[in-house]
Amino acid sequence: MTDFKKCVVYQIYPKSFSDSNGDGFGDLKGVTEKLDYIKTLGVDYIWLTPFYVSPQNDNGYDVEDYYRVDPRYGTMQDFEVLLEEAAKKGIRIMLDMVFNHTSSHHEWFQKALAGEEKYKNFYFFRKGKEDGTVPTNWESKFGGSVWEYVDAFDEYYLHLFDVSQPDLNWDNPQVREEICKILKFWIKKGVKGFRFDVVNLISKGSFEDDTKGDGRRFYTDGPNIHTYLQEISRAIADEDAEIITVGEMSSTSLENCYKYAGEDCKELSMVFSFHHLKVDFMDNEKWVMIPYDFDKLKRILFEWQTKMAAHHAWNAVFWCNHDQPRIVSRFGDEGEYWKESAKMLATAIHCLRGTPYIYQGEELGMTNAGFTDISQYRDVESLNHFRILQDKGMSREQAYEILRIHSRDNSRTPMQWSDEKNAGFTAGNPWIEINPNYRYINAQTEIKDEDSIFYHYQKLIQLRKEYDVVAYGDIEPMALDHPSVFAYKRRWKNEELTVVNNFYKKETVLNIGEPINDYRCLISNYDRPDMKKDQVTLRPFESFVLYRKN
Ligand code: GLC
Repeated sequence: MTDFKKCVVYQIYPKSFSDSNGDGFGDLKGVTEKLDYIKTLGVDYIWLTPFYVSPQNDNGYDVEDYYRVDPRYGTMQDFEVLLEEAAKKGIRIMLDMVFNHTSSHHEWFQKALAGEEKYKNFYFFRKGKEDGTVPTNWESKFGGSVWEYVDAFDEYYLHLFDVSQPDLNWDNPQVREEICKILKFWIKKGVKGFRFDVVNLISKGSFEDDTKGDGRRFYTDGPNIHTYLQEISRAIADEDAEIITVGEMSSTSLENCYKYAGEDCKELSMVFSFHHLKVDFMDNEKWVMIPYDFDKLKRILFEWQTKMAAHHAWNAVFWCNHDQPRIVSRFGDEGEYWKESAKMLATAIHCLRGTPYIYQGEELGMTNAGFTDISQYRDVESLNHFRILQDKGMSREQAYEILRIHSRDNSRTPMQWSDEKNAGFTAGNPWIEINPNYRYINAQTEIKDEDSIFYHYQKLIQLRKEYDVVAYGDIEPMALDHPSVFAYKRRWKNEELTVVNNFYKKETVLNIGEPINDYRCLISNYDRPDMKKDQVTLRPFESFVLYRKN
């Protein structure tokens, strides 16, 4: 079996990664061209976000044809070459599977709209209420109602996301059969992993009004979710037992994750949960502007770490992806301590118990987009909410401020390869603007500098391979009440790690509680910490990892 506890995954958003043909969109050939860079970083897997045929209303998370490569990303042959070249370098490919919904352009949905009963049953069509209103009061994740009216049937269809993303009916065995067919198709090509998009939303419960919320409690971690995941997991394992899987879990609970990613539960290898990234939300509301709550961040991370460990379940650990703002802008410092804070955040997450995921550009310390005008935004969620916020009475300026912080486009600006034109991303016009800071934040510069953020990530990846305690150790929170330090111990057999991170610009003192002179420092973001005392003064965003073998 693949030892995914020793592995690190690198996420690529192909549209913004590297453009090989100058049309302004990144493509699969572009990824192949950059394999040496990825190999130098040292990761084991590349997770590619969707490149299937799609109208791109949600950048490929609206799939029109699961079996074909969208021409804007290249051809099937380009994909096969990528697989082959990656394999030569010992890098495996993980694909993103979007099965909660299809695009409204998908043949199944088109047939449903044409009235074919078989395909209507692939989706959820429902009558409105007697008073002529929508079937339930649920809100779409992208704003507005989850129901869209179809005149021809006098019925509505369900879309938890955009209106162009109708939800699939997993209760229909034919849908599950089709899904297994798609998975097998890609496994036969040699794919070695799957990331399942919002997979804990696939089993819908009852369709009733939610008097307490936006409807999510009726479809999140739904009634048959574990059965369905076990079914797919069996189908995958029958084909290739080496495949690893990760589920994206929207608003999930720990109790469900013990099962989703439990050692013996046979559902998924690991889960992404997002609670630790909602610490700058107000309850579940993302479109607000409040400072992030460090104490909450710590408590959530520790709770998930310790409880998942106690239940022998496995986390994916991460700060960034294509839906999240850049971490250095969010919890670090874009200014004076840019480098220190980016390294600190990397250490804090990579030494946790779980498989780390790095999102393209994170290893360079890329920052938020800094857009100031709506014409610069591309993301459907951001565009919808820009309107909704103003409908709610907010000024245009306030709406801009919120977008500037929370928009998903913050992480979708093109990868910064060099200080040349368009950051070396494209010879044409990029589909979304490039962050002007590419002049000093770019791969070319960092590769030449052995003290760069890039090499810090490289070292963290190596540590996981070299030291079993990083991959397998238990976790014990430290300094729980400290207002600015996130610290923990990891223990495995006779090895012990102490991981210390100052999340703030202000110096602070930490009492480690024992002399630390018999530890060795494995990685840090300043010169060596003062190791003689049991008390350390931590400089701005200082971070280090101490190791000892008893
Ligand atoms: C996931 C994806 C996101 C997408 C949504 C709907 O959250 O990561 O990008 O918009 O699902 O498919």
